[in-house]
Amino acid sequence: MEITEIRKDIPMLDEIIYMDAASTTPTPKPVVEAMCDYYYNYNANIGRGAYRTAVKAGNEFEKARSKVARFINSKPEEIIFTKNTTEAINLVAHGLDFKKDDSVVVSNIEHHSNFLPWLNLKKRGVNLKVIKADKYGVVDAGDFENAIDDTTKLVALTHVSNAIGSVQPVYEVGEITEEKNVLYLVDAAQSAGHMKLDVKKLKSDFTAFPGHKGLLGPVGTGFLCCHAGSMDKLQPENLGGGTVFDVTEKDFKLEEGHARFEGGTQNIAGVIGLGTAVDYINRIGLEKIEKHSRELTSLMFDEVSKVENTTVYGNPEDIYGIVAFNINGANPHDVAKILDELRRICVRSGHHCAIPAIRHTGAYELGGSVRASIHCYNTKEEVQILGETLKEVSQFFGA
Ligand code: ALA
Repeated sequence: MEITEIRKDIPMLDEIIYMDAASTTPTPKPVVEAMCDYYYNYNANIGRGAYRTAVKAGNEFEKARSKVARFINSKPEEIIFTKNTTEAINLVAHGLDFKKDDSVVVSNIEHHSNFLPWLNLKKRGVNLKVIKADKYGVVDAGDFENAIDDTTKLVALTHVSNAIGSVQPVYEVGEITEEKNVLYLVDAAQSAGHMKLDVKKLKSDFTAFPGHKGLLGPVGTGFLCCHAGSMDKLQPENLGGGTVFDVTEKDFKLEEGHARFEGGTQNIAGVIGLGTAVDYINRIGLEKIEKHSRELTSLMFDEVSKVENTTVYGNPEDIYGIVAFNINGANPHDVAKILDELRRICVRSGHHCAIPAIRHTGAYELGGSVRASIHCYNTKEEVQILGETLKEVSQFFGA
């Protein structure tokens, strides 16, 4: 699929320059249509009714599970659907049997979703060891190796920083955690759908995915991949309809596998839409997406760096999809509002739900940063318009 075709499927791109993919991506027409098809033609609950419409809904839901599993070289039985990455990570933090004096190793470049659930375990006597990234926001795998000891129960690391786009050595850390026999969770929120991901190669026990970002799926979808039997290490918290095999007044027996974690009515339309989104990404081709995004990110880094009076964050050698910056002396929210006013450029501004990472970049006191993030539908021309507009904005602030 060519970029012009993709853009035809996303009408809002005719009106705006959308550069906030790291928050959420627009939903292409085939994905919306798949959800409409469910609502118009077979809107029934799943796993409950014996009638044909309910069976069809259940089958389509399970087809989506197979599609996402295949996409990351996993198996359908390893996938738990959630409403987002945050819920997927919390499921692990709440579901593992953490004991007093266990420890978790994490980086200081994480999104809050991969930091707060671990920090919160302090209440249960769990210690958090925080690995500091370098000046480009990249961690050293060796620091993880040194931090792991007999108390370490789990290592958690993001693949790509949502705050500055720096790519982390998730594969190297996977080798280390395998060798040291500790659990490993990867936050794939900013890499899934943007680059090829293979959970077997990652060697992760748990990988958390959003549906609504790189995968171009609807909001309210996400999933946790529990690789090679690691699901059995989790206890479900969200008990209710669909999670149990049998119940007496005194006790209950949980369902096997993912069903025990998917309590209550699921986001059926959303998950079916997510399955279609995975088909859509496959039609474009992940290699093509990655090549396009790497070229565009490089161009964006250069364009923003050319603007006078501007600080650009992140590693120019290995940055993916995201460029964060500040115009010196300007509040990032003001810059974002002006970009919207002048050219309808949509970027995120502030702390990006990653305050430790923003502190690390030195931008905390500045109110955070401006963040432009792209995907397969963005064009070179849009990136050039961003650069040109920033030059104008920089003038307002006395370059
Ligand atoms: N996690 C999303 C972001 O980084 C919301 O913007």
